[in-house]
Amino acid sequence: MKIITKSEKGTIMQGKKFAARLKGGEVILLVGDLGAGKTTFVKGVAVGFDLRKNITSPTFVIMKIYKISKHLKIKNLIHIDTYRGLDINDLENIGALEYFGRDDCVCFVEWGAGLEDYLRKGKIRMKKIKFNDLDENTREIIIT
Ligand SMILES: Nc1ncnc2c1ncn2[C@@H]1O[C@H](COP(=O)(O)OP(=O)(O)OP(=O)(O)O)[C@@H](O)[C@H]1O
Ligand SMILES: [Mg+2]
Repeated sequence: MKIITKSEKGTIMQGKKFAARLKGGEVILLVGDLGAGKTTFVKGVAVGFDLRKNITSPTFVIMKIYKISKHLKIKNLIHIDTYRGLDINDLENIGALEYFGRDDCVCFVEWGAGLEDYLRKGKIRMKKIKFNDLDENTREIIIT
């Protein structure tokens, strides 16, 4: 599925819609250059789950866990950023892998393309979202 957004708000709206389709247990790999809209999309997901906390980039802390109370099944939104070149071992060391595939969690991983093989082997449900920066305010979002 391919979507074009014309503003930050547009991408937030798309994240919100996307949240409504999640069942729990998915790992979502967010792929795209700096400033392409990955974190903005996760902000929209948080809106979809009625989170009050503002989502900020987890670049320097690697992983943030937000508690969800408004959903019957999904209780945690996990937001990971592997921008610093983290691999599976690093993610294991910080305890991130425990959340992958858990029914009560949805995990969003910025710069997560490197996890594809690992997730496939573990039969963990995965979606990939590619963000392309078309011009200053226009982004193409491709969900597979
Ligand atoms: N249509 C749009 N969708 C999303 N963001 C947009 C759009 N138009 C402009 N922007 C701007 O682009 C930037 C996107 O930043 P964001 O932090 O979401 O990117 P990112 O992909 O997470 O980058 P990084 O790799 O640095 O983490 C914001 O400054 C936002 O205001
Ligand atoms: Mg980001």
